[in-house]
Amino acid sequence: MEKRYVKESRTYKTSRIFPTDVNNHNTLFGGKLMSYIDDIASISACKHSRCSVVTASTDSVDFLSPIRPTDSVCLESFVTWTGKSSMEVFVKVITEDLRTGKRDIAATSFLTFVALDENKKPAIVPQVIPETNEEIMLHDSAKQRADMRKYRREESKKFSDHLLMNFPWE
Ligand SMILES: CC(C)(COP(=O)(O)OP(=O)(O)OC[C@H]1O[C@@H](n2cnc3c(N)ncnc32)[C@H](O)[C@@H]1OP(=O)(O)O)[C@@H](O)C(=O)NCCC(=O)NCCS
Repeated sequence: MEKRYVKESRTYKTSRIFPTDVNNHNTLFGGKLMSYIDDIASISACKHSRCSVVTASTDSVDFLSPIRPTDSVCLESFVTWTGKSSMEVFVKVITEDLRTGKRDIAATSFLTFVALDENKKPAIVPQVIPETNEEIMLHDSAKQRADMRKYRREESKKFSDHLLMNFPWE
């Protein structure tokens, strides 16, 4: 089985916050950050698998501190763990106040991507080799998150069976 180092999928993106990016609190709009997160995570998943990928789920996006127009926002993303065709991607969002240099972890997120072959069917992906303490911590705790995800997926399927599909005007 082929294996790839975490560093092979590590990806960074640093942005400024423009007036069109903020909400009515003058902090970065959450939906904008979620779009950045999905974007960078998909690049990590492609770099790890060298396949086309789809987002299967986003476990969580934890907004830990507000992101202000005076901050730069740096996203770091890498594949932490793989199943057969699925990849867990971790995204860490670090802000830096450009006036003082003070840094904060502004958000973290775990997402799952699935690699697809040329027939759009799930494709086997390489396993992950973690090296740093942070990579090892995330890799070692990933199986537990994958089990919770599987449970939630089954519950979500059962839940959706009870939902109506008629529109209000019908
Ligand atoms: C994700 C998707 C390809 C899975 O296809 P599927 O036919 O259900 O495939 P399987 O049941 O064989 O699952 C394949 C893998 O995906 C994982 N998976 C499927 N749904 C998942 C979910 N909601 N969360 C996490 N992992 C999921 C499975 O655990 C399995 O992992 P493994 O191969 O590592 O064991 C399919 O559900 C899909 O295309 N969804 C829509 C994706 C999309 O449109 N994303 C947004 C735009 S990119």
